[in-house]
Amino acid sequence: MAYSEKVIDHYENPRNVGSFDKNDPSIATGMVGAPACGDVMKLQLKINDDGIIEDAKFKTYGCGSAIASSSLVTEWVKGKSIEQAGKITNMTIAEELELPPVKIHCSILAEDAIKAAIDDYKKKRVS
Ligand code: FES
Ligand code: FES
Repeated sequence: MAYSEKVIDHYENPRNVGSFDKNDPSIATGMVGAPACGDVMKLQLKINDDGIIEDAKFKTYGCGSAIASSSLVTEWVKGKSIEQAGKITNMTIAEELELPPVKIHCSILAEDAIKAAIDDYKKKRVS
């Protein structure tokens, strides 16, 4: 299968790979898996007191499309509020990366990872 140039770019030069200290209270972590293929994505967001995402990092054990999807969303979420970031959908990701239908679940992983990280942030806030 041919990957789009954007996927190859993110795959070869992934942005924001790594992790933050999960004990830092400003760090929210979203860890999700894709039942279809067993791939795993960890997305971490650094969120300030105003609910603005200041930084993001990811680690993905998965295919090129999953790595490209997570790399892309780390760029997209920076500077956004958690409300704005929570509205990023897999379709927007798939369109940007020109993913073929069989690779749509890879972008769903990225959407789910954002939502899981935001949930983690909210849980940390109430506790
Ligand atoms: Fe890895 Fe499908 S084989 S996501
Ligand atoms: Fe499963 Fe890409 S995340 S094939």
